[in-house]
Amino acid sequence: MSASSFANRTVATDAPEERIAWADMRTFNPEEIIPFRHNLANEPLLSLDSLRALANRMYEKRQVKFKPPESTEEFSTRDTHSKGWSVDEAFDRLEQPGSWLAIYHMASDPLYSDFCRNLLQELDAHIGKADPGLHAPDLAIFLSSPPTETPYHIDQHPVFFFQLKGRKLMNLWDSHDPEVVPPDAAEEFLCFRREGLVRYNDSLRSKVVEIELAPGDGVYWPATTPHYVRTQPYWAKPGDGISLSFNISYYTAATRKRLCVSAINRLLRKRSALHPAPYGKSPVRDNLKYPLGRAYLLARRLITHEYLHDEQKL
Ligand SMILES: [Fe+2]
Repeated sequence: MSASSFANRTVATDAPEERIAWADMRTFNPEEIIPFRHNLANEPLLSLDSLRALANRMYEKRQVKFKPPESTEEFSTRDTHSKGWSVDEAFDRLEQPGSWLAIYHMASDPLYSDFCRNLLQELDAHIGKADPGLHAPDLAIFLSSPPTETPYHIDQHPVFFFQLKGRKLMNLWDSHDPEVVPPDAAEEFLCFRREGLVRYNDSLRSKVVEIELAPGDGVYWPATTPHYVRTQPYWAKPGDGISLSFNISYYTAATRKRLCVSAINRLLRKRSALHPAPYGKSPVRDNLKYPLGRAYLLARRLITHEYLHDEQKL
C-alpha cells in the first residue's frame, strides 16, 4: 500500500456527527490493517494550545513524557517519566528537530473524559459486532518534530491511529505471517511481555506495508502487528513543523482469548514435544484451550502475585 492510496479521498461518513469515516471499513475485520479517513484534525480539544494545557495537568499524574532534541534517546512509550524540563519548556522547543512529547491516559482528565467516552462509544458501535468486549482503552497523544523514529516493535493490543497535523510514515507488517511474527515469539510476548523476540531483518523489507499519513488520515492495525514509525523533515516548515498524532489502543474479548490460548501453547511447547497450532488456526482447539489457559494464568497470578494482564479482565 502506498501513500497514494489516500490521495483525493475526503472524509465521507454516514452521519455528520461521526468522526471516523466508517464507510472506509464497512466490513471491519479486526485481523487486517485498514487505512481510513477521519474528522478529528479540527477538534478544538486536540489543538496545540489545548494539548499544552492538558500536558501540564497530566504531568502531575506522571502521564507525560518528552525528549529534548539533543538527546539521542529513541522514542519509547515504555519508558518512565521525563525529568529536567517543564512541560512548557518542552512545548516551546517542540519544533526543534528530533523533539517529541507524549501524553497518555488522557481520558482520566476531567476536561477530556466526555470527548474520550463519546469517541469510544462511536468506535465500539462500529467495531463491536466484529470485535466485541472493548475494554481498558488508552487514548494518547504523540507530538514530534522530524526526524524521529519509533523502533520496530509489536504491542499486545489493536490500535486506531489518527494523524492530526504534519506527516508520519508508517511501516507495518502482517502479524499473521510466521516469518514476520513467529508464533512462539508472539506467545512469549503476549504472556510475559518479553521484548526483543520479534525482530526486524532485511528479509522482511519486501513485506512492508508502507503508508504515509497526512492530516485526516488514519490506520487501524491488529494486536502484534510489527510497526516502525518515522517522521521525515521534507514537509516541515518554520511554524508548521510538528507531527501530531492521536491513538486509541484497547483490549477485547479476542485479545483475552488469544492470551489464554497462547499461555497453553507456550506450556505445551516448553513441557512437551507437541507443536500446538498457533491461535486462530483451529477455532475448535482454541475453544478448548481458552478456559484452560485462563485457569492457568489466574492460578499463576495468585501464586506469583504478578501484575501481568490486569488490563485483560481475566
Ligand atoms: Fe506501538
